[in-house]
Amino acid sequence: MCGIVGYIGKRNVVDVLIKGLETLEYRGYDSAGIAVNSDNEIKVYKKIGKLINLKNLLEEKKNEINNVTMGIGHIRWATHGGATDINAHPHTCTCGKLVVVHNGIIENFKELKEDLIKKGCVFRSQTDTETIAHLFAHEYGKTHDLTLAVKKGLEQIKGAYAICVMHKDEPDKIIASRKNAPLVIGVGEGENFIGSDIPAFIEYTKKAIYLEDGEIAVVKENSLEFFDANLNKIEKKIEQLPWEPVALSKLGFKHFMLKEIHEQPDVIRNVLNGKLFDIDEPIVLDEVKIDKESLKNLNRIEIIACGTSLHAAMVGKFLIEDFTGIAVDVEASSEYIYRKTVTNDKTLVIGVSQSGETADTITAIRQAKDKGAHVLIITNRPDSSMARYADSLIPVSAGIEISVAATKSYTAQVLSFYLLAIKLAEIKGTLSPEYMKNLKHELIQVPVKIEEILNNKEQIKKVAKKFANFRNFIFIARGINLPTALEGALKLKEISYINATGYSAGELKHGPIAMLDETMPVLSIMIPGGVTYDKILSNSEEAKARNARLIALTSSKDENLKDIFEDVITIPEIPEMLSPIVANVPCQLLAYYIAEFLGKDVDQPRNLAKSVTVE
Ligand code: G6P
Repeated sequence: MCGIVGYIGKRNVVDVLIKGLETLEYRGYDSAGIAVNSDNEIKVYKKIGKLINLKNLLEEKKNEINNVTMGIGHIRWATHGGATDINAHPHTCTCGKLVVVHNGIIENFKELKEDLIKKGCVFRSQTDTETIAHLFAHEYGKTHDLTLAVKKGLEQIKGAYAICVMHKDEPDKIIASRKNAPLVIGVGEGENFIGSDIPAFIEYTKKAIYLEDGEIAVVKENSLEFFDANLNKIEKKIEQLPWEPVALSKLGFKHFMLKEIHEQPDVIRNVLNGKLFDIDEPIVLDEVKIDKESLKNLNRIEIIACGTSLHAAMVGKFLIEDFTGIAVDVEASSEYIYRKTVTNDKTLVIGVSQSGETADTITAIRQAKDKGAHVLIITNRPDSSMARYADSLIPVSAGIEISVAATKSYTAQVLSFYLLAIKLAEIKGTLSPEYMKNLKHELIQVPVKIEEILNNKEQIKKVAKKFANFRNFIFIARGINLPTALEGALKLKEISYINATGYSAGELKHGPIAMLDETMPVLSIMIPGGVTYDKILSNSEEAKARNARLIALTSSKDENLKDIFEDVITIPEIPEMLSPIVANVPCQLLAYYIAEFLGKDVDQPRNLAKSVTVE
């Protein structure tokens, strides 16, 4: 989604802005722009499409960009008004002296716009953001104080925002503020940075200050001042960022997605580190504030998430119900927030989110908190807005994920659910010590099993090559691997645009079977040793009888499978209960190689955003 970068200091401002925007590109966008204070004028450059278009424009105009002291930049994912040069940010007021970039949505922009037009403002774009520029400029006309004008303007705005503002007549500062959209200040020496996310400035500083909702920052070259929404001065803590800039490099892999798939064994080791010491030891989840008493008081659990995180939540439901007997519902955040839910103070609500910034999930979490629920957040970003609402927290520690298609964060989320479900079972005493020991033993083996799959990629590449030109794809599974089928299909759909769908294998005959013929590959995920294998095998036979092209993903060594399945993707042996965390990896690789064979933009698929900050 949209990204913001701001810089004031002695470096080449345009370079810092463009580099910052490049690091945010992964979020998905359709236009880009910057505004700089150059020769004491506000100059704006913006272009539809990828950053290269903006770079070309800047190259053309380089002679007019001199003596630049500060600047703000933006990548836009269109919400109000199509993707055009004019709708791209930054936006200026009528006289062009005040300029703003904005992430989020201004809900009352129509009323504000009508009023501002009556007052003589000339609008050029269809965006809600332009309203902010005119509104602030109008307030500036009354006060001639940019900080005060921003404060007065923000009081009239309803909605979500992260903003950066500059004014020609106050060339020593950038004003930044946020509400329900992230914004971080990068603290330098003789220079300061602003970013909607840390990658925007991590190359230059590892010191950051996170703005809270409603706060206003006045960012100057040699100073930083912070105010609450009433302009009372406040003190803010400087945080040390854990990341190295190297986390943002592809490290020799062709795409971030492939790199992130390969990072999964280490991610798992990292997640287990400090949480699972030994098979005889209890699971340690330091920030989970649930004990025997509070668990007694619980009558149900609701897990809320979107996209890939929703599939991790489905695995979580299966595990928690199986290990503890507590009833669990899973719901897409976007559905949860628009109905009368029965959440109350006897509900544990678990929010799952890679980014911790997904607007629907944030709203759902807020609603759950208002109803008195204990909120547990599972996120890859313990510095996110969602983490701030958490009563309990499980940081999934997957490291920054750049590719839009989530891979390692999913694996880390699923693993976190294993740890949580075992922890809850330990507290409740619902599993035998032997069974738990075995689970823990198997969890410790998972990284090696994934390494085995990664070392044996050729079998998956071969299948990918064969099926890359099919327009449809079905993934089937049952039980704990149904989410694996749904996630496998989602991954393929996201990056290759193939119409891939995941079904419960048992549901195939209740409709989808009508679509089967020789143009339809069906991938069956079947793990022997549990209750579903034979059933999925029968369902696959039913598909074969309709001439579907069958692929098996299995740990079975049964040679007879080759009589039924055209291709067999083999994974290491693993108990069915643990298999989702391993079986998902070949699905990720299959999606990757198909997209790669089709020449798609793997890391930045069309229309998608990494973090969806609008409802
Ligand atoms: C977007 C991303 C998906 C992600 C979903 C939920 O749609 O493209 O990959 O699964 O948002 O994001 P979250 O950060 O809440 O997990």
